[in-house]
Amino acid sequence: MVSLVVAAVFLLQGALFQPPQAAAFKVLPADGSLTHQQITEAAFLRKMAEVCRDVAAARGQEFTLPINNKLTVTAVQRACSNSYSSLLQISTFSLAISQTSISNAAVDRKQFSTAHHFDNEDFKNGRDLITKGIAAVKVSMKQGRYLSARSSLGAACHTLQDFYSHSNWVELGSTAPFSPLIRPELSLNNLAGPNTKTCKSCVGKDCSDNILQEVLQQKILTSGYFRLLLSTKPAGKCSHGGLFDMTSYEDPTGGINKDDISSSHGFLHQRAAEIAINATIDLLEDIRLATGNVTFLRLMGLSQTSVLAFVFDTTGSMSNYIAEAKTVTFSIIDSRRGTSEEPSEYILVPFNDQGFGPLMKTEKADTFKERINSLSASDGSNPGMCLSGLLLTLTQAPPSSDIFVFTDASVNDTELKNAVEAMIQITKSTVTFLLTNSISSRSQQNVSLSRLLSQSDIQLYRDLSHISGGQTIEVTNSTLSQATAVITDVIAAGLVTVLYIERSPAIAEIFSFVLDPSLSNVTVYVTGDSPVFTLYSPTGVSQSGSVANGPLGDILTVGNLKRLKILSDNQKGEWKISISSTSSYTLKVIGQSSVDVLVYFVEIIEGGHGDSWAQSFTRPFIGRNATLFVSVTGGDSVTVTDVLLVEASGSDVVNGTIKAVGATDFLVNVDRIPEGAFVVQLKGLLNNSSSISRFQRQSPTQYKGSRITITAQSQNIAQPGVPFGLNFTVTSNTTGGNYTIRARTDLGFSVSFPRYLILVTGGSAQGSVTLTAPSDTESGTVFTLTIEAEAPGSTDLNYAIGGLTEYTYDQRAGYIWRNTGVSSPQGGNFQPQGWQGGLPRERHTLERGLQWKYTCGGRPGGEPCTWRHLAYTKAAGGITLALTSTVLEELRASRRNSPEENIARIRSEE
Ligand SMILES: *[C@@H]1O[C@H](CO)[C@@H](O)[C@H](O)[C@H]1NC(C)=O
Ligand SMILES: *[C@@H]1O[C@H](CO)[C@@H](O)[C@H](O)[C@H]1NC(C)=O
Ligand SMILES: *[C@@H]1O[C@H](CO)[C@@H](O)[C@H](O)[C@H]1NC(C)=O
Ligand SMILES: *[C@@H]1O[C@H](CO)[C@@H](O)[C@H](O)[C@H]1NC(C)=O
Ligand SMILES: *[C@@H]1O[C@H](CO)[C@@H](O)[C@H](O)[C@H]1NC(C)=O
Ligand SMILES: *[C@@H]1O[C@H](CO)[C@@H](O)[C@H](O)[C@H]1NC(C)=O
Ligand SMILES: *[C@@H]1O[C@H](CO)[C@@H](O)[C@H](O)[C@H]1NC(C)=O
Ligand SMILES: *[C@@H]1O[C@H](CO)[C@@H](O)[C@H](O)[C@H]1NC(C)=O
Repeated sequence: MVSLVVAAVFLLQGALFQPPQAAAFKVLPADGSLTHQQITEAAFLRKMAEVCRDVAAARGQEFTLPINNKLTVTAVQRACSNSYSSLLQISTFSLAISQTSISNAAVDRKQFSTAHHFDNEDFKNGRDLITKGIAAVKVSMKQGRYLSARSSLGAACHTLQDFYSHSNWVELGSTAPFSPLIRPELSLNNLAGPNTKTCKSCVGKDCSDNILQEVLQQKILTSGYFRLLLSTKPAGKCSHGGLFDMTSYEDPTGGINKDDISSSHGFLHQRAAEIAINATIDLLEDIRLATGNVTFLRLMGLSQTSVLAFVFDTTGSMSNYIAEAKTVTFSIIDSRRGTSEEPSEYILVPFNDQGFGPLMKTEKADTFKERINSLSASDGSNPGMCLSGLLLTLTQAPPSSDIFVFTDASVNDTELKNAVEAMIQITKSTVTFLLTNSISSRSQQNVSLSRLLSQSDIQLYRDLSHISGGQTIEVTNSTLSQATAVITDVIAAGLVTVLYIERSPAIAEIFSFVLDPSLSNVTVYVTGDSPVFTLYSPTGVSQSGSVANGPLGDILTVGNLKRLKILSDNQKGEWKISISSTSSYTLKVIGQSSVDVLVYFVEIIEGGHGDSWAQSFTRPFIGRNATLFVSVTGGDSVTVTDVLLVEASGSDVVNGTIKAVGATDFLVNVDRIPEGAFVVQLKGLLNNSSSISRFQRQSPTQYKGSRITITAQSQNIAQPGVPFGLNFTVTSNTTGGNYTIRARTDLGFSVSFPRYLILVTGGSAQGSVTLTAPSDTESGTVFTLTIEAEAPGSTDLNYAIGGLTEYTYDQRAGYIWRNTGVSSPQGGNFQPQGWQGGLPRERHTLERGLQWKYTCGGRPGGEPCTWRHLAYTKAAGGITLALTSTVLEELRASRRNSPEENIARIRSEE
């Protein structure tokens, strides 16, 4: 038996072609209706509260929080912290909810898929999506890959929740969820047959009584038909209903969806949403039972899931430091053991001047220490393969890992710099370099000349650490042990970035930052060879950087880094720091807080009912506008006043336009992307019950735009041991020449790809990637594939990432054409960009490299049509797209005006 095993859906860069929404529970809140996000969050909160209540009972602790529909994130976090007698991180909990919700919303991309939304009585395929999704969640959790798990969870939740809005389950009087949807072993009974009539026409606008009595009495399950272009549906079947559903204008007219309170069956919206919440809770419970409480808490983000990774240089000259580095790492590992901040996973990657790897991963601190202990220095004396080792770590470690690189030498593989930078931005992992032999500290060693660190090597390390929000610390053998304190700071739980500035070349400047009441353990770091600084508190107290124990705090010096821990008094308000330096320096202000920000670039999916969005897995295009999704965690309500894209080492600032899409969620439009690397700064007001205070946060990781785009199409499901091909297109509007291509998966599958693609200026080229998952890959494994294209001379780079979102059975789903944004003439049909030809064709081969738009003729306003009426077949040089024969039949049979116009045109081509 061939099992369908490894799933990857390729997310396409750029705006996808989107017809008006077939809809579902809404993604944006409106008129008091419940959205997918609210349904998912309500379920998370209730399930967490239940688990914490049971834990409290088992431990003889009190649990007083009433479990009802008024739960808030902060209330649940407080109650759960009591149950566990330790403070649980609210920010990671909110993060888990946001990560789940964003992949839930992304399912609205799949509007042409009936199964994803339980339209057209497609119950079997819909159930399949859910149960495969749950299986994928469990596999990802077992592998410790919580982000993948949340992604699969969000997608499965969307489809599950849609069942209650789009089927007649609620109308049948059901009060409990339909359990076969999450249990593949149960059969789906009493489904309406293809010829079973289920609805009668609504009386005018009143659809409250349109489901047939015998359907209700015999408890037959049905769902609404939805068609955007055509009005035909099987005789006597219910429609989805709504403006865009053409079938709902035909007998039986009207619809049955409960997407919001103004829908055809809007009077049942609240009931449907409540059962959807209960169904989501059942799904979570199924996962908890299968994976255990601790793992489940990690999925929910209530337990630490941080990963600690060390990348070790073992080339000969490092032998001087290895003993000391081991002591440092051991003391860090031991200090976290048994605490709530204990890393969930450890990773070790060695490298030397000959090679790098393998990557070693373990959950056990002792195993990890043994492996570090067995490291020994080799004989080499050449520059090390540092970036290869780091790239391997970034690729295979979970996102947001804390990575520490120990080296004393220059870099052999500098050509990987841009690739490492891209992976840092993709994973949002923090990289800290500990350089034990830099110019400033070198003196004692008899190191081979070729390994000596030059200024440009140090700059390379600094650049990479800055991009990640980490630091480069230059130490000597004797000060290495002091670095322990800094590493411990970095891996503390709940860290947020208030401000991070780099200046090179340096000028004297005064920076200000706001500390809010939610912050504790605020620490100021200044790194650089010669910075002179003075810190000023809101009340005017000041302390110079040369005073080790002053009124504002103690200063620790580690090599070229100074750390000032601000004493807890007098924190709140606006602080200032003046810095002057003759060489480059960085200033970083971090603290522990429940209030953090999550920032994603997103693609807006335009729809008839309102916009939805999906995370964009590529760099934004320089010179065009873009949208960010910003979620503020840890507060029940916040006001965001400023979202700024600030160039990291320049002065360009782009001010975004903010639109609230929830109590703590915002969509931010920016009219352009800065040329250089930039950070996202956010300012606003925290509204707590007692007070309102200003706050500011900054994305720790830098972002970058690009002028290259990569698009790809893919099949969705790979089989272990079977090569799996994927074509992609690179387009660039910068320089022509040889574009370097790289591709890799986060599971280290073998991948083959062309080393170069040749592009003419402003042109595009196609390449293909083949990957093979090992034949023992577990069913349900989700992987991501990253494809990179780098311009000649390393002047630009972009990437596209596939994978992550969901399982799908629909092979067509991979074939999505991109909307060019070029509007085709009214009444047009298949229109390639720049198409001059006359009439639409019944069958047309879409050539590669062209972008396509399909509009339907004659519809009011020329709204785009759905892809579900099209058949795709692969053909030489492209893909042939044709109206399906059923559609042609339907078109011919249709009495509506607009399709008739289409038929006329199609006929004239015949
Ligand atoms: C897991 O949590 C449940 C409550 O949700 C509790 O009944 C059970 O005893 C816990 N199991 C373990 C092994 O802690
Ligand atoms: C959802 O479950 C809760 C707890 O089991 C129950 O009290 C409530 O009535 C259920 N809601 C619906 C709409 O069935
Ligand atoms: C570094 O310190 C360790 C002890 O912590 C010592 O064994 C080693 O010889 C020192 N190396 C140098 C180069 O001083
Ligand atoms: C990098 O390492 C390879 C293999 O050891 C070697 O051939 C090459 O010369 C090195 N490059 C540099 C710049 O040291
Ligand atoms: C501040 O950090 C110390 C350890 O450095 C820790 O013990 C303490 O709990 C932290 N304070 C808060 C409020 O988190
Ligand atoms: C972004 O640019 C596109 C054209 O490139 C335009 O159609 C769209 O309206 C712009 N969006 C905003 C929010 O300015
Ligand atoms: C950004 O724009 C907002 C609204 O127009 C304005 O209030 C704010 O002062 C601007 N911020 C900056 C830093 O320019
Ligand atoms: C990729 O393109 C080649 C031709 O360039 C074609 O033969 C192949 O079928 C395509 N593969 C996929 C998966 O589309």
